[in-house]
Amino acid sequence: MSWTAGRLLRVSAPVISAQNLVKTYKVKGKPDFVAVDGLSFEVAPGESFGLLGPNGAGKSTTMKMIGAVSTRTAGELSILGLDPDRYGPEIRSRLGVVPQQDNLDGELNARENLYIYGRYFGLPGKVCQEKADELLAFAQLEDKAKSKVDALSGGMKRRLTIARGLINDPRILLLDEPTTGLDPQARHVLWDRLFRLKERGTTLVLTTHYMDEAEQLCDRLVVVDKGCIMAEGTPASLIREHSSREVLEVRFGSARNQEVAPQLQGIGDRVEVLPDRVLVYTDNGEHALETVTARGLEPITSLVRRSSLEDVFLRLTGRSLIE
Ligand SMILES: Nc1ncnc2c1ncn2[C@@H]1O[C@H](COP(=O)(O)OP(=O)(O)OP(=O)(O)O)[C@@H](O)[C@H]1O
Ligand SMILES: [Mg+2]
Repeated sequence: MSWTAGRLLRVSAPVISAQNLVKTYKVKGKPDFVAVDGLSFEVAPGESFGLLGPNGAGKSTTMKMIGAVSTRTAGELSILGLDPDRYGPEIRSRLGVVPQQDNLDGELNARENLYIYGRYFGLPGKVCQEKADELLAFAQLEDKAKSKVDALSGGMKRRLTIARGLINDPRILLLDEPTTGLDPQARHVLWDRLFRLKERGTTLVLTTHYMDEAEQLCDRLVVVDKGCIMAEGTPASLIREHSSREVLEVRFGSARNQEVAPQLQGIGDRVEVLPDRVLVYTDNGEHALETVTARGLEPITSLVRRSSLEDVFLRLTGRSLIE
């Protein structure tokens, strides 16, 4: 049990609860734009929860409402048992936030960025110094402690922003697109750091439009599109429910894919034509490929793979996650 702003919070209670959450933006001369259109979800303590969706789905808008920096238009929202409309400062002091755009102070060095952020939270100077060193080690940036932030790589800046978000020992860390724009190696380093936080029991809430990231990091996720939840579950359960076990990808050349597709009907459960390839959803990809060849169709390239969250998204919306 722990006390939060004078209210008793059961440890097993969700740390975040959203019911029919709505956010509209005013647009001059037009009807209000609905960016978040009635989202309902709960996040349990220690869980790693993801919002997976394409550009403009409403992920950052939702994160800003959870982070108590943007007010909701309608619906219920409770963060650590508190209503952000009434307890904004209390909520903000208990959260760690990694915004989509890094907002580090480029003129200061890495260590100073952490120190000053800690002071902003009202931590004593000595505590900030200790915390800064501890977090630089956690972010594997000890040798960059005195480097100006402007001189750090994108991956280093992202790690520093995460370190900064941890200065107040938050129970919940909000990560808006933690690895967008990073190369594969930098993404893996970052995933490793996030795994460690998860192991320590920090609740992670992250947005991403990378299905591999969602599969790697999320215990549970919602697939969001145009401000609405399309599906919810663990990565494995979403794939099981909305896709076949395997996918056969065949390429016949961009001019021929559309033309060949009707001849693939009946081979798997479903055929999906993309501009650059045709996807055949099936429980046995190798067998499907044999059938394709037996029908006298000779793909330029072929690939059998497991279904992924990308396939779930395609199935639910008819579109790809990354445009
Ligand atoms: N301040 C604002 N005023 C008006 N419209 C906004 C504002 N902020 C966001 N929007 C609109 O709301 C929708 C959702 O935006 P949001 O930033 O939440 O999407 P997102 O899922 O985070 O996308 P991305 O993957 O590109 O970061 C978009 O259509 C966006 O243009
Ligand atoms: Mg965003």
